[in-house]
Amino acid sequence: MEIKKIPLPDEKKKARFTDESQLGFGRIFTDRMLMVEWKAGKGWVDARIEPYAPFVLDPACLVFHYAQEIFEGLKAYKWTDGTVALFRPEMNARRFNLSADRLCMPTVPEELFLKGIEELVQLEKDWVPSAEGTSLYIRPAMIAVEPVLGVKPSDHYYFYVIMSPVGAYYASGFKPVKIMVEDKFVRATPGGTGEAKTGGNYASSLKAGLEAKKKGFDQVLWLDGVHKRYIEEVGAMNMFFAYEDRVVTAPLEGSILHGITRDSVLKLVASFGLKVEERKIDVIELMNDIRSGKVKEAFGSGTAAVVTPVGALSYKDECLTVDDGEVGKLTQKLYDTLTAIQYGKMEDSFGWIK
Ligand code: COI
Repeated sequence: MEIKKIPLPDEKKKARFTDESQLGFGRIFTDRMLMVEWKAGKGWVDARIEPYAPFVLDPACLVFHYAQEIFEGLKAYKWTDGTVALFRPEMNARRFNLSADRLCMPTVPEELFLKGIEELVQLEKDWVPSAEGTSLYIRPAMIAVEPVLGVKPSDHYYFYVIMSPVGAYYASGFKPVKIMVEDKFVRATPGGTGEAKTGGNYASSLKAGLEAKKKGFDQVLWLDGVHKRYIEEVGAMNMFFAYEDRVVTAPLEGSILHGITRDSVLKLVASFGLKVEERKIDVIELMNDIRSGKVKEAFGSGTAAVVTPVGALSYKDECLTVDDGEVGKLTQKLYDTLTAIQYGKMEDSFGWIK
Protein backbone atom coordinates (compact mmCIF):
# COMPACT_ATOMS: atom_id res chain seq x y z
CA MET A 1 0.00 0.00 0.00
CA GLU A 2 1.30 3.46 -0.94
CA ILE A 3 1.87 5.72 2.09
CA LYS A 4 1.13 9.35 1.21
CA LYS A 5 3.49 11.98 2.62
CA ILE A 6 1.63 15.11 3.71
CA PRO A 7 4.11 18.02 3.69
CA LEU A 8 5.23 19.42 7.02
CA PRO A 9 4.98 23.23 6.93
CA ASP A 10 7.90 25.06 8.56
CA GLU A 11 5.66 26.57 11.23
CA LYS A 12 4.68 23.04 12.38
CA LYS A 13 8.30 22.04 13.06
CA LYS A 14 8.90 21.73 16.78
CA ALA A 15 11.83 23.12 18.71
CA ARG A 16 14.41 20.39 19.29
CA PHE A 17 15.56 19.23 22.70
CA THR A 18 19.01 20.53 23.52
CA ASP A 19 20.03 18.44 26.51
CA GLU A 20 19.71 14.73 25.76
CA SER A 21 20.46 13.83 29.37
CA GLN A 22 17.15 15.43 30.39
CA LEU A 23 14.87 13.59 27.95
CA GLY A 24 13.14 11.36 30.49
CA PHE A 25 10.56 9.01 29.00
CA GLY A 26 7.79 9.81 26.51
CA ARG A 27 7.17 13.49 27.09
CA ILE A 28 8.36 14.96 23.75
CA PHE A 29 6.98 13.88 20.36
CA THR A 30 8.43 14.21 16.88
CA ASP A 31 7.01 16.34 14.04
CA ARG A 32 5.17 13.64 12.12
CA MET A 33 2.98 10.59 12.71
CA LEU A 34 1.71 7.65 10.66
CA MET A 35 -2.07 7.31 10.24
CA VAL A 36 -4.02 4.53 8.53
CA GLU A 37 -7.76 3.95 8.81
CA TRP A 38 -9.75 0.75 8.68
CA LYS A 39 -13.38 0.92 7.64
CA ALA A 40 -15.87 -1.97 7.55
CA GLY A 41 -16.40 -3.09 3.98
CA LYS A 42 -13.28 -1.23 2.77
CA GLY A 43 -10.40 -2.53 4.87
CA TRP A 44 -7.22 -0.46 5.36
CA VAL A 45 -7.40 2.88 3.56
CA ASP A 46 -5.76 6.28 3.34
CA ALA A 47 -2.27 5.50 4.71
CA ARG A 48 -0.41 8.73 5.31
CA ILE A 49 2.48 10.29 7.18
CA GLU A 50 1.22 13.67 8.35
CA PRO A 51 2.18 16.44 10.77
CA TYR A 52 1.78 15.29 14.41
CA ALA A 53 -1.51 16.75 15.63
CA PRO A 54 -4.29 16.11 18.15
CA PHE A 55 -7.24 13.97 17.04
CA VAL A 56 -10.72 15.46 16.92
CA LEU A 57 -12.92 12.57 18.04
CA ASP A 58 -16.58 12.14 18.85
CA PRO A 59 -16.99 11.69 22.64
CA ALA A 60 -19.10 8.60 21.90
CA CYS A 61 -16.21 6.73 20.23
CA LEU A 62 -16.02 3.12 21.43
CA VAL A 63 -12.45 3.47 22.66
CA PHE A 64 -13.49 6.01 25.31
CA HIS A 65 -16.16 3.75 26.79
CA TYR A 66 -15.20 0.14 26.26
CA ALA A 67 -11.41 0.45 25.86
CA GLN A 68 -11.08 -1.25 22.49
CA GLU A 69 -7.43 -0.27 22.15
CA ILE A 70 -4.05 -1.94 21.63
CA PHE A 71 -0.48 -0.66 21.42
CA GLU A 72 3.15 -1.62 20.94
CA GLY A 73 6.56 -0.28 21.90
CA LEU A 74 9.86 -0.52 20.01
CA LYS A 75 12.92 1.65 19.57
CA ALA A 76 15.18 3.11 16.89
CA TYR A 77 18.86 3.48 17.82
CA LYS A 78 21.41 5.93 16.43
CA TRP A 79 24.81 4.36 15.74
CA THR A 80 28.05 6.32 15.79
CA ASP A 81 28.30 6.07 11.97
CA GLY A 82 24.86 7.72 11.66
CA THR A 83 22.94 4.50 10.87
CA VAL A 84 19.47 4.37 12.45
CA ALA A 85 18.60 0.79 13.40
CA LEU A 86 15.42 -0.96 14.50
CA PHE A 87 15.46 -3.94 16.85
CA ARG A 88 13.30 -6.96 15.87
CA PRO A 89 10.36 -4.85 14.57
CA GLU A 90 8.72 -7.88 12.94
CA MET A 91 8.17 -9.28 16.45
CA ASN A 92 6.19 -6.15 17.34
CA ALA A 93 4.12 -6.51 14.16
CA ARG A 94 3.25 -10.09 15.10
CA ARG A 95 2.45 -9.29 18.71
CA PHE A 96 0.33 -6.31 17.63
CA ASN A 97 -1.77 -8.64 15.53
CA LEU A 98 -2.15 -11.14 18.38
CA SER A 99 -3.44 -8.28 20.52
CA ALA A 100 -5.72 -7.15 17.67
CA ASP A 101 -7.20 -10.61 17.39
CA ARG A 102 -7.86 -10.79 21.16
CA LEU A 103 -9.61 -7.40 21.11
CA CYS A 104 -11.65 -8.21 17.94
CA MET A 105 -9.81 -5.58 15.92
CA PRO A 106 -8.61 -5.94 12.32
CA THR A 107 -5.03 -7.16 11.92
CA VAL A 108 -2.54 -4.83 10.21
CA PRO A 109 -0.64 -6.41 7.29
CA GLU A 110 2.90 -6.97 8.60
CA GLU A 111 4.31 -5.25 5.53
CA LEU A 112 2.24 -2.10 6.17
CA PHE A 113 3.20 -2.07 9.85
CA LEU A 114 6.92 -2.35 9.01
CA LYS A 115 6.96 -0.07 5.97
CA GLY A 116 4.96 2.60 7.83
CA ILE A 117 7.43 2.59 10.72
CA GLU A 118 10.52 2.48 8.47
CA GLU A 119 9.32 5.43 6.36
CA LEU A 120 8.31 7.44 9.42
CA VAL A 121 11.65 6.82 11.13
CA GLN A 122 13.49 7.73 7.93
CA LEU A 123 11.66 11.08 7.69
CA GLU A 124 12.25 11.77 11.39
CA LYS A 125 15.81 10.46 11.63
CA ASP A 126 17.10 13.79 12.98
CA TRP A 127 14.92 13.19 16.04
CA VAL A 128 16.85 10.06 17.06
CA PRO A 129 19.03 11.13 20.00
CA SER A 130 22.61 9.86 20.20
CA ALA A 131 23.72 10.26 23.82
CA GLU A 132 24.45 7.03 25.68
CA GLY A 133 21.28 5.20 26.74
CA THR A 134 18.96 7.32 24.57
CA SER A 135 16.81 6.19 21.62
CA LEU A 136 13.68 7.02 19.68
CA TYR A 137 10.74 5.21 21.27
CA ILE A 138 8.14 4.19 18.68
CA ARG A 139 4.54 3.76 19.81
CA PRO A 140 2.15 2.07 17.35
CA ALA A 141 -1.46 2.02 18.57
CA MET A 142 -4.95 1.17 17.31
CA ILE A 143 -8.19 2.68 18.61
CA ALA A 144 -11.89 2.08 17.93
CA VAL A 145 -13.44 5.32 16.64
CA GLU A 146 -17.00 4.39 15.76
CA PRO A 147 -19.29 6.72 17.77
CA VAL A 148 -21.83 4.33 19.26
CA LEU A 149 -22.75 3.30 22.80
CA GLY A 150 -23.64 -0.34 22.14
CA VAL A 151 -20.97 -2.82 23.23
CA LYS A 152 -19.61 -4.29 19.99
CA PRO A 153 -16.47 -4.31 17.84
CA SER A 154 -16.09 -0.98 16.04
CA ASP A 155 -16.65 -0.52 12.31
CA HIS A 156 -13.92 2.14 12.12
CA TYR A 157 -10.35 2.16 13.52
CA TYR A 158 -7.30 4.40 13.53
CA PHE A 159 -3.93 2.64 13.38
CA TYR A 160 -1.32 5.27 14.16
CA VAL A 161 2.34 5.54 15.12
CA ILE A 162 3.86 8.35 17.18
CA MET A 163 7.49 8.64 18.28
CA SER A 164 9.33 10.11 21.23
CA PRO A 165 13.06 10.64 21.85
CA VAL A 166 13.71 9.02 25.24
CA GLY A 167 16.29 8.39 27.94
CA ALA A 168 15.94 5.78 30.68
CA TYR A 169 12.44 4.58 31.62
CA TYR A 170 13.15 4.71 35.36
CA ALA A 171 14.15 8.16 36.57
CA SER A 172 16.98 6.56 38.53
CA GLY A 173 18.59 5.24 35.29
CA PHE A 174 20.43 1.88 35.32
CA LYS A 175 20.15 1.41 39.10
CA PRO A 176 18.54 -1.41 41.09
CA VAL A 177 14.80 -0.88 41.61
CA LYS A 178 12.67 -2.01 44.56
CA ILE A 179 9.78 -4.27 43.71
CA MET A 180 6.79 -5.25 45.84
CA VAL A 181 5.04 -8.57 45.19
CA GLU A 182 1.35 -7.68 44.97
CA ASP A 183 -0.82 -10.00 47.08
CA LYS A 184 -4.17 -8.17 47.02
CA PHE A 185 -4.91 -7.00 43.46
CA VAL A 186 -4.43 -9.18 40.36
CA ARG A 187 -3.50 -8.16 36.83
CA ALA A 188 -4.66 -11.10 34.74
CA THR A 189 -6.32 -14.48 34.89
CA PRO A 190 -6.28 -17.44 32.45
CA GLY A 191 -8.57 -16.65 29.55
CA GLY A 192 -8.33 -12.90 30.20
CA THR A 193 -6.39 -10.28 28.24
CA GLY A 194 -3.08 -10.55 30.13
CA GLU A 195 -0.96 -11.42 27.11
CA ALA A 196 -2.48 -8.71 24.92
CA LYS A 197 -0.89 -5.28 24.92
CA THR A 198 -4.07 -3.38 25.65
CA GLY A 199 -4.55 -0.21 27.67
CA GLY A 200 -7.02 -1.83 30.09
CA ASN A 201 -4.27 -4.02 31.55
CA TYR A 202 -2.32 -0.90 32.44
CA ALA A 203 -5.34 1.06 33.72
CA SER A 204 -6.24 -1.74 36.12
CA SER A 205 -2.66 -1.86 37.41
CA LEU A 206 -2.54 1.77 38.53
CA LYS A 207 -4.09 1.32 41.96
CA ALA A 208 -1.61 -1.35 43.05
CA GLY A 209 1.24 0.72 41.58
CA LEU A 210 0.24 3.79 43.60
CA GLU A 211 -0.07 1.83 46.82
CA ALA A 212 3.37 0.30 46.23
CA LYS A 213 4.87 3.77 45.58
CA LYS A 214 3.45 5.03 48.88
CA LYS A 215 5.33 2.18 50.59
CA GLY A 216 8.57 3.15 48.84
CA PHE A 217 8.61 0.63 45.95
CA ASP A 218 9.10 1.37 42.25
CA GLN A 219 6.73 -1.23 40.80
CA VAL A 220 4.64 -4.24 41.71
CA LEU A 221 5.32 -7.82 40.68
CA TRP A 222 2.05 -9.56 39.86
CA LEU A 223 1.13 -13.04 41.04
CA ASP A 224 -1.13 -15.37 39.07
CA GLY A 225 -4.81 -14.47 39.39
CA VAL A 226 -6.03 -17.88 40.56
CA HIS A 227 -3.72 -18.96 43.41
CA LYS A 228 -1.91 -15.64 44.03
CA ARG A 229 1.13 -17.83 44.36
CA TYR A 230 3.09 -17.91 41.10
CA ILE A 231 5.21 -15.05 39.79
CA GLU A 232 3.92 -13.40 36.60
CA GLU A 233 5.33 -10.05 35.44
CA VAL A 234 5.90 -6.43 36.39
CA GLY A 235 3.60 -4.32 34.12
CA ALA A 236 6.50 -2.76 32.21
CA MET A 237 8.87 -5.76 32.49
CA ASN A 238 9.15 -9.55 32.44
CA MET A 239 11.07 -10.87 35.45
CA PHE A 240 14.12 -13.14 35.74
CA PHE A 241 15.91 -14.75 38.67
CA ALA A 242 19.49 -15.93 38.29
CA TYR A 243 20.75 -18.93 40.23
CA GLU A 244 24.35 -20.27 40.11
CA ASP A 245 24.02 -22.00 36.72
CA ARG A 246 20.58 -21.01 35.40
CA VAL A 247 18.13 -18.25 34.84
CA VAL A 248 14.47 -18.76 35.64
CA THR A 249 11.48 -16.86 34.29
CA ALA A 250 7.70 -17.39 34.23
CA PRO A 251 6.30 -19.35 31.25
CA LEU A 252 4.09 -17.77 28.57
CA GLU A 253 0.77 -19.39 29.39
CA GLY A 254 -1.70 -16.69 28.41
CA SER A 255 -1.61 -14.19 31.24
CA ILE A 256 1.77 -12.49 30.74
CA LEU A 257 3.18 -10.48 27.89
CA HIS A 258 5.36 -12.15 25.24
CA GLY A 259 8.24 -9.75 25.81
CA ILE A 260 10.56 -9.22 22.85
CA THR A 261 13.36 -8.23 25.21
CA ARG A 262 12.39 -11.30 27.29
CA ASP A 263 12.95 -13.52 24.26
CA SER A 264 16.24 -11.77 23.46
CA VAL A 265 17.47 -12.12 27.06
CA LEU A 266 16.69 -15.85 27.06
CA LYS A 267 18.66 -16.30 23.84
CA LEU A 268 21.60 -14.31 25.22
CA VAL A 269 21.56 -16.25 28.50
CA ALA A 270 21.71 -19.54 26.56
CA SER A 271 24.56 -18.15 24.43
CA PHE A 272 26.49 -17.43 27.66
CA GLY A 273 26.30 -21.16 28.45
CA LEU A 274 23.76 -20.84 31.26
CA LYS A 275 20.60 -22.93 31.55
CA VAL A 276 17.28 -21.29 30.85
CA GLU A 277 14.15 -22.40 32.70
CA GLU A 278 10.70 -21.15 31.76
CA ARG A 279 8.62 -22.52 34.60
CA LYS A 280 6.13 -21.66 37.30
CA ILE A 281 7.90 -19.82 40.11
CA ASP A 282 6.33 -20.22 43.53
CA VAL A 283 6.71 -16.93 45.42
CA ILE A 284 7.31 -18.69 48.76
CA GLU A 285 10.11 -20.82 47.29
CA LEU A 286 11.51 -17.75 45.59
CA MET A 287 11.64 -15.80 48.85
CA ASN A 288 13.33 -18.80 50.55
CA ASP A 289 15.88 -18.95 47.72
CA ILE A 290 16.61 -15.24 48.02
CA ARG A 291 16.94 -15.51 51.81
CA SER A 292 19.33 -18.46 51.56
CA GLY A 293 21.40 -16.76 48.86
CA LYS A 294 20.55 -19.27 46.12
CA VAL A 295 19.09 -16.49 44.01
CA LYS A 296 22.14 -14.50 43.01
CA GLU A 297 20.47 -11.79 40.91
CA ALA A 298 17.04 -10.54 39.93
CA PHE A 299 16.28 -8.33 36.95
CA GLY A 300 13.49 -7.27 34.64
CA SER A 301 13.40 -6.81 30.88
CA GLY A 302 11.31 -4.64 28.57
CA THR A 303 11.63 -2.40 25.53
CA ALA A 304 11.37 0.72 27.67
CA ALA A 305 13.13 -0.75 30.69
CA VAL A 306 15.86 -2.61 28.64
CA VAL A 307 17.43 -4.74 31.42
CA THR A 308 16.70 -3.34 34.87
CA PRO A 309 18.38 -4.70 38.00
CA VAL A 310 16.11 -5.49 40.95
CA GLY A 311 17.83 -4.78 44.27
CA ALA A 312 15.00 -5.60 46.67
CA LEU A 313 11.89 -7.74 46.62
CA SER A 314 9.16 -7.54 49.21
CA TYR A 315 6.37 -10.07 49.87
CA LYS A 316 3.81 -9.64 52.61
CA ASP A 317 5.79 -8.13 55.48
CA GLU A 318 9.26 -9.18 54.46
CA CYS A 319 11.59 -7.18 52.22
CA LEU A 320 14.70 -9.03 51.04
CA THR A 321 17.76 -7.52 49.44
CA VAL A 322 19.03 -9.30 46.33
CA ASP A 323 22.76 -9.35 45.61
CA ASP A 324 23.38 -6.71 48.31
CA GLY A 325 21.22 -4.28 46.34
CA GLU A 326 24.00 -3.93 43.75
CA VAL A 327 23.93 -4.47 39.97
CA GLY A 328 24.79 -8.16 39.47
CA LYS A 329 27.46 -9.37 37.03
CA LEU A 330 25.03 -11.25 34.78
CA THR A 331 22.55 -8.36 34.77
CA GLN A 332 25.33 -5.99 33.75
CA LYS A 333 26.58 -8.40 31.05
CA LEU A 334 23.08 -8.79 29.62
CA TYR A 335 22.54 -5.03 29.58
CA ASP A 336 25.94 -4.44 27.98
CA THR A 337 25.53 -7.16 25.35
CA LEU A 338 21.97 -6.25 24.40
CA THR A 339 22.72 -2.55 24.12
CA ALA A 340 25.99 -3.24 22.23
CA ILE A 341 23.94 -5.13 19.60
CA GLN A 342 21.24 -2.44 19.50
CA TYR A 343 23.79 0.39 19.09
CA GLY A 344 25.86 -1.46 16.47
CA LYS A 345 28.89 -1.92 18.72
CA MET A 346 28.85 -5.70 18.54
CA GLU A 347 28.20 -8.20 15.79
CA ASP A 348 24.49 -9.05 15.54
CA SER A 349 24.88 -12.82 15.31
CA PHE A 350 21.16 -13.33 15.98
CA GLY A 351 19.97 -11.23 13.01
CA TRP A 352 17.96 -8.89 15.27
CA ILE A 353 18.86 -5.57 13.68
CA LYS A 354 16.74 -4.18 10.84
C1 COI B 1 7.43 -1.04 26.77
O1 COI B 1 7.35 -0.50 25.67
O2 COI B 1 8.48 -1.51 27.19
C2 COI B 1 6.23 -1.16 27.62
O3 COI B 1 6.13 -2.11 28.34
C3 COI B 1 5.22 -0.11 27.61
C4 COI B 1 5.24 0.84 28.74
C5 COI B 1 5.00 0.28 30.05
C6 COI B 1 6.32 1.86 28.70
